[in-house]
Amino acid sequence: MTGFTFQTTPNIRVAPGASADIGPLFAGLGARHVLLVTDAGVRRFGLSSAAEGSLAAAGVAVSVFDAVVADPPADVVLAAVEAGRAAGADAVLGLGGGSPMDTAKLVAYLLGSGDRLEDIYGVDQARGRRLPLVLVPTTAGTGSEVTPIAIVTTGEAEKKGVVSASLYADWAVLDAELTLGLPPAVTAATGVDAMVHAIEAYTSRHKKNPLSDALAREALRLLAANLVTACTRGDDVQARSDMLLGALLAGQAFANAPVAAVHALAYPLGGHFHIPHGLSNALMLPHVLAFNLESAGPLYAELAPLLGGTGADGFRDRLDALVAATGLPRRLRDVAVPESALDLLADDAMKQTRLLVNNPREVSRADARALYAQAW
Ligand SMILES: NC(=O)c1ccc[n+]([C@@H]2O[C@H](COP(=O)([O-])OP(=O)(O)OC[C@H]3O[C@@H](n4cnc5c(N)ncnc54)[C@H](O)[C@@H]3O)[C@@H](O)[C@H]2O)c1
Ligand SMILES: [Fe+2]
Repeated sequence: MTGFTFQTTPNIRVAPGASADIGPLFAGLGARHVLLVTDAGVRRFGLSSAAEGSLAAAGVAVSVFDAVVADPPADVVLAAVEAGRAAGADAVLGLGGGSPMDTAKLVAYLLGSGDRLEDIYGVDQARGRRLPLVLVPTTAGTGSEVTPIAIVTTGEAEKKGVVSASLYADWAVLDAELTLGLPPAVTAATGVDAMVHAIEAYTSRHKKNPLSDALAREALRLLAANLVTACTRGDDVQARSDMLLGALLAGQAFANAPVAAVHALAYPLGGHFHIPHGLSNALMLPHVLAFNLESAGPLYAELAPLLGGTGADGFRDRLDALVAATGLPRRLRDVAVPESALDLLADDAMKQTRLLVNNPREVSRADARALYAQAW
């Protein structure tokens, strides 16, 4: 075994209803005024009410920024930073899916460090100190609550990442009650995103390591066993809890063994056509797995029993059946991607060098074009 480094969030609290006890966590971090970063839907559904009540009860003031949108653009991040500055916030709560959590990480970092957003894109460029930060996911998907990653849409359509240990939160809090009302289509897409995190971590080319492997395997087991139940019986707290834990474990895995070509080819679909992140992954997944087979086949075979299959082909078949059972669209043409866009998509995917280097098999521009054509 070659050496490896493994980092993760220092404090994790898991319990249905846990967001109602968040006030003391912030008090323990010395916070007096929290900026809640969320989106309008999450706030309208009342998902932040328990956390806000708990903060008030702990004597911590709250200001709200609820204008985050999916695939957050840079100007939304900067508006949230401004809101935090104007309010005099000394701590940040990110509550929502990956979009609010990623935004919250950047707000905590930019307010705490004084750095400029345009200077910290890429790996390990954010080296300053952030404000105290607590993250509460309301989707079982991105694992953002335990990753050192924030994804921002820059300019028209490009998605760029900020990756730095400074972005690990002080606390990740899993409250499955917040996910009970997640609609089936979002449950399915975000759940497949989490499964892809586990799979790509397990086959990651340079940083695959035994801790990520163990986490990825348990994540995949939990996610595969509960995905369809979470979609069809959304109020099943046990299934929701297992999905949320699975997404977190997958997040810990890929934070240390980064994701690869499925994500690299998914991002341009989000950037150009606003296809949700998880659905973009689901659309590219079977084609990238088939492409990777010659390099990653033995690893897929190792994962197959977790899905009740055998061999690399059994793994792909089981995965395909699971995704089909969720009712997600299967082809790019089903989600209004025109065939004329495939060249543009392939050009953009090749810019995701941070991710492509992790793929078990090298991906050329021609390969990327062919994969989009297969997915179309
Ligand atoms: N930081 C990371 O490590 C990481 C990893 C993967 C993806 N991402 C990023 O995360 C973003 C995607 O996050 P996401 O898939 O969680 O979606 P999202 O945060 O964009 O939310 C999608 C929609 O679901 C709604 N929603 C969220 N929780 C809900 C609930 N409990 N009930 C009802 N509706 C709810 C939201 O209001 C929103 O309309 C993308 O920008 C992606 O690039 C980040
Ligand atoms: Fe993802």
